[in-house]
Amino acid sequence: MAENQDYRMMSPDFSAADSDVELSLRPKTLDEYIGQEKVKENLKIYMDAAIGRSEPLDHVLLYGPPGLGKTTLAGIIANQMGVQIRITSGPAIEKPGDLAALLTNLNDGDVLFIDEIHRLSRSVEEVLYPAMEDSAIDIIIGKGPSARSIRLDLKRFTLVGATTRAGQLTAPLRDRFGVVLRLELYTPYELAQIVKRNAGILGIAIDEDGALEIASRSRGTPRIANRLLKRTRDFAQVVGSGTITEQDARLALARMEIDELGLDNIDRLLLTTMINNYNGGPVGLETIAAAIGEEAVTIEDVYEPYLMQIGFLGRTPRGRVVTNAGYDHLGIARKGQQNLY
Ligand code: ADE
Repeated sequence: MAENQDYRMMSPDFSAADSDVELSLRPKTLDEYIGQEKVKENLKIYMDAAIGRSEPLDHVLLYGPPGLGKTTLAGIIANQMGVQIRITSGPAIEKPGDLAALLTNLNDGDVLFIDEIHRLSRSVEEVLYPAMEDSAIDIIIGKGPSARSIRLDLKRFTLVGATTRAGQLTAPLRDRFGVVLRLELYTPYELAQIVKRNAGILGIAIDEDGALEIASRSRGTPRIANRLLKRTRDFAQVVGSGTITEQDARLALARMEIDELGLDNIDRLLLTTMINNYNGGPVGLETIAAAIGEEAVTIEDVYEPYLMQIGFLGRTPRGRVVTNAGYDHLGIARKGQQNLY
């Protein structure tokens, strides 16, 4: 994986550098949460209904590209349901016993948040089935022919699972979630509102055009917008007026080699490699991955969603293609007559 500065800058993955800011900026209620309107509307109804029945919320699966606020939503659910949240992740739960320990320590109605839930091992996943369905776990005592299984009742709880790849969840696990919510990339307008809100909390002065400039280059992702906000503040402070304006944002982003649409070096490398080596496609994902030295899953989870959202990349049964809009943005003329996409 490329370890250059631009890659880290535009990666939607959570890094230690995000933690201080992200924690202080996280909205605590649905009313404070900007964007994802459909998700919010439905979630509000499900939570109000559960509260009205004095029941925990049904299990919730959140899926969509990284950096869109899945952990934040889990925190909001716990806060608005008036319960505690325990946060863990699929790879962190190594053995069935690890999950059993987490489950038996929950209080009535608590939220257990499992990030990257598609990475749970099979044996751990099997503990989850009766826990989700019957609020119980089956513990095996002894070994060999005399082994017995005893059932241990748990408190009622809400599992909130998050994944970037809902398709990788096993069917039995997916079927046990009563609420399945898909998060979408944010619009530049929504991101500008988030940038202004967060600038206010961090005590950074920013004008309307400055916020929109950062927003329109953040690939639909609040985590990236927050990171760009912090770096742009540095430029505004040292070489600008102190208030982030459109001009400051443009200067900062140009210095970071992030273009008008938020594409970084790797996006451009991906598109130009497809154009120069494969005549713009169709070309298979694995081939692209090998050609640019990235992992196929990274391309699929991190680069593709945004390049597809802005219409630069298409998927066909025979592989990925660069669209006419992609060629135009890079200023490259198509060779031959392949104006199909
Ligand atoms: N900070 C990060 N994501 C946010 C969102 N969706 N709403 C408000 N603030 C945020």
